[in-house]
Amino acid sequence: IEMNQNDLKALVGQAAVDQIESGMVVGLGSGSTVAYLIKALGKRMQEEPLQIETVTTSRQTMQLAQAVGIDCRQIDEVRQIDLTIDGADEVDADFQGIKGGGGALLWEKIVNQSSTRNVWIIDESKLVDRIGRFGVPVEVIPFGSQKLFQILADRGYHPQWRMQGDQLFKTDEGNQIIDLKTGVIAHPHALARDLASTAGIVEHGLFLDAVDLVIVGRSSGVELMKA
Ligand code: A5P
Repeated sequence: IEMNQNDLKALVGQAAVDQIESGMVVGLGSGSTVAYLIKALGKRMQEEPLQIETVTTSRQTMQLAQAVGIDCRQIDEVRQIDLTIDGADEVDADFQGIKGGGGALLWEKIVNQSSTRNVWIIDESKLVDRIGRFGVPVEVIPFGSQKLFQILADRGYHPQWRMQGDQLFKTDEGNQIIDLKTGVIAHPHALARDLASTAGIVEHGLFLDAVDLVIVGRSSGVELMKA
């Protein structure tokens, strides 16, 4: 049978649930692929006694989790996170990634760096040779963000405001998102350093050397790619 993108997302969401063990503190990522994971996890927790604590990378994920009976904690209420499962927008052959398509990159990166193991779940359309075509989402504080936008334009990063309808998109932290339409990125680490050293940028969507395992949904089945 022909599988569409949603079928592949459901497949990896289901597969990722097997990574979770009783006793773990688990980080739950954001996005449409993670939504399938949460559904599958809620079902598993009804079928077997699974003692876990969870934290989420967005308010939306917290709502989704609670809707299927998963109790969520605040990040600073739990010890070190054992395992975080998140989606991604692009992943390349060196396991470098771009995230933030859903605008949750700041909390996602904080949860990622607080997690002993990080797993990404993607359908095969997210696999690329080299990252960049998706663009790089950048979270900026509102103060001076028009000035910052101009600086990013002057550097040749082709910035675009992330919109929600006719309003600027607003993140869970009340910040704005500027999407850099970089095209394929020759030197991701150099770009990450440049963005991180620019005032007003809170965080960017380059997730470099940040994943341990990628679970890919292909029409031929699930593939586990170890970094
Ligand atoms: C959210 O900010 C993103 O980083 C998501 O993890 C990413 O966009 C993947 O989302 P989908 O699973 O919906 O493609």
